[in-house]
Amino acid sequence: MTLDLIPTELRGFARQWLAVATTSELRNRPLTRTVIGLPIVLFRHSGGVAAMLDRCPHRNVPLSAGSVNNDALQCSYHGWEFNPTGQCVNIPGRSDCPQQFSVPSFSVIEKDDLIFVRLENTEEDDVSTSTANILPTQALSPFKSGLDSFLWINELECNFINGLENLLDPMHPAFVHSLLVRTSAKRSAMDINVIRTEEKLEVIYNENQIASGFIPRLFEGLRTQSIGRYYPPFSAQLEYRSPKGTSFILTTVFSPVDQNHTRTFSWLSTPCGLIPAFLKEAVTRLIFAPVLKQDQQILSLQSSNISRFGEEQFVSTKLDIVRPHILHFLNNHQTKKVLPLERSLCIEI
Ligand code: FES
Ligand SMILES: [Fe+2]
Repeated sequence: MTLDLIPTELRGFARQWLAVATTSELRNRPLTRTVIGLPIVLFRHSGGVAAMLDRCPHRNVPLSAGSVNNDALQCSYHGWEFNPTGQCVNIPGRSDCPQQFSVPSFSVIEKDDLIFVRLENTEEDDVSTSTANILPTQALSPFKSGLDSFLWINELECNFINGLENLLDPMHPAFVHSLLVRTSAKRSAMDINVIRTEEKLEVIYNENQIASGFIPRLFEGLRTQSIGRYYPPFSAQLEYRSPKGTSFILTTVFSPVDQNHTRTFSWLSTPCGLIPAFLKEAVTRLIFAPVLKQDQQILSLQSSNISRFGEEQFVSTKLDIVRPHILHFLNNHQTKKVLPLERSLCIEI
C-alpha cells in the first residue's frame, strides 16, 4: 500500500493539503518532490496539474526523469505512458495496456501561487479549491490589497515543528541574529498576551519601542506591537505594527519533506508606498538573506545533534512560549479538541 511508505510520525498528515511547489516551479517538464517522506512527481496537462508516485511500475525508474507527451507522462526507460490519473495508456511495442499497470495518483489543487497535494482522500473528502488555503479566510492575507508581497522559497534541515518554533520564538534573535534583529545587551521587559482559540495561536508582544537590531533601526522606526500567529497545522505569521498600522508581515507555510527536512514558502509583505515593489523585494532579499542563513545553520545543527543522540530530549521554561501550543494543536486540531486559553506574562526579550 502506497501510504505505508510514509514514515509513521508523518502518516497523520496524509489527509492534509500539503504545499509542494510554487506554480512557477512547474513548467513543461515533470517535477519531483518528496512530501511527508513520499516521492511524488507533478506534471502539467491540458486539464491542470497531476500528481503521482514517482516510480514507474515497470522497472521503478523515476517518472520525473521522463517527459510530458500529449497529456501523459512518459517514462524515460521503455516509454510507457501514464495519464493524469496514473493509468498506463501506452506501452510501446504492444497494442493493449493491461488495467492493473497504473501508478498511484493524488489530489492536486493549484491556488495562491502554490500547488497543494493531498495524498489520502476518503469518499466524503472535498477536493474543491476552497479547501486548500495558506491561511484561514479571516486571517491577515499577504494577498490583501495595499500590500506589496513577494514569495521566498527555502529549505530547512529540520522537522517542521522545530522550524515553526524557530520562526515564532522570541528568545533566539538576540543570540542567533545578534545585532541584526535584536541586541542582547538591550533586553527589555515586555508584556505579552497569549491567546489560543480553536483556529489559531496568537502571541502579542507589546513592544512600544524601536527594536534594538540593525535591520529594524534602519527600516522600521517605532514598533508598537509584534504578533506571532500559528495556524495549524502548517502556517505561521509574524506581523509588526507601528503607530500607523501594519509595517511588515511574514507569512510562512511549512511543508514537511521528511522527518528531517522542511520546505518553506514565505510571503514577505509591506504596505505599498512610493518605493516600487521590485526594489523593495531586492533590498529585502539582500537584508534578510543573512538572517535566514543564521536560522538555517542553527536548525541544521540542532537537527544533526538530535540525530546523533537518536532522539529529542528537551527541557523548557516559560520563555519557550510557542512550542507547547504547537504540540497542543497538532495533537488536538483534527479531533476538534483544542482548549481555548488566554494568559498574560511579562518577560525580558
Ligand atoms: S521502467 Fe518505465 S517503462 Fe520501463
Ligand atoms: Fe530566527
